[in-house]
Amino acid sequence: MLRGKFILFEGLDRSGKSTQARKLAEALKERGSRVEQRHYPERSTQVGSAINSYLTKTKSLNDQAIHLLFSANRWELQQALVDLLDSGVTVVVDRYVYSGVAFSSAKGLDREWCWQSDFGLVRPDLTIFLDISPEEASSRGGYGEEIYEKVSFQSKVKAEFALIAAKEEIRSSEAGKASWVSLNAQTSLETLHAQILSHVDAVPDRLPGDYDFMQK
Ligand code: TMP
Ligand code: MG
Repeated sequence: MLRGKFILFEGLDRSGKSTQARKLAEALKERGSRVEQRHYPERSTQVGSAINSYLTKTKSLNDQAIHLLFSANRWELQQALVDLLDSGVTVVVDRYVYSGVAFSSAKGLDREWCWQSDFGLVRPDLTIFLDISPEEASSRGGYGEEIYEKVSFQSKVKAEFALIAAKEEIRSSEAGKASWVSLNAQTSLETLHAQILSHVDAVPDRLPGDYDFMQK
């Protein structure tokens, strides 16, 4: 039996990640795969509840503390994620370590420091970065409710994601398999969905227990 695939969506707020994650999960299920969706931050845990208070501006925390809470939230759910993958379920995830680094380093925290707390987590098999301009994102529904939803800040986040993408694309070509793809999110839902499906189909099969990990 094969393990499930770990497919990650990353991008700015309102880049369309949730919509595309849902469409991908539905398409894979229709083909008969077992699929689950996850989203970080997972706000239902105690750590997640503290993160939620910060994001909704009801509690202030310093930049280092909130960074570590986001990371702790991934760690507390890591075993459950691995168990799901090992049981053959494909997991479509909305945000993970790359958001952790991009958002915190956009505030000016040291980039290397930002990576540290996530080293050792399972690396996604494929990360799909939905590329959108901060201005286009800000015109989408519900924008501005949470602490990071400001065009000026999202522009800095986008620049940090570009640095991460460059690094991950080099890693992909060295490994001879695409583990990061950046797609233009300012296109039709269906066009984007078809592109995403074709990238997901190219992800190699792996056995349970066979993972790469986040590392330096
Ligand atoms: P969400 O909009 O996907 O629920 O995420 C809430 C905010 O948290 C979003 O602006 C991105 C930010 N974030 C971080 O700053 N660090 C992280 O590690 C994660 C997962 C999200
Ligand atoms: Mg958001």
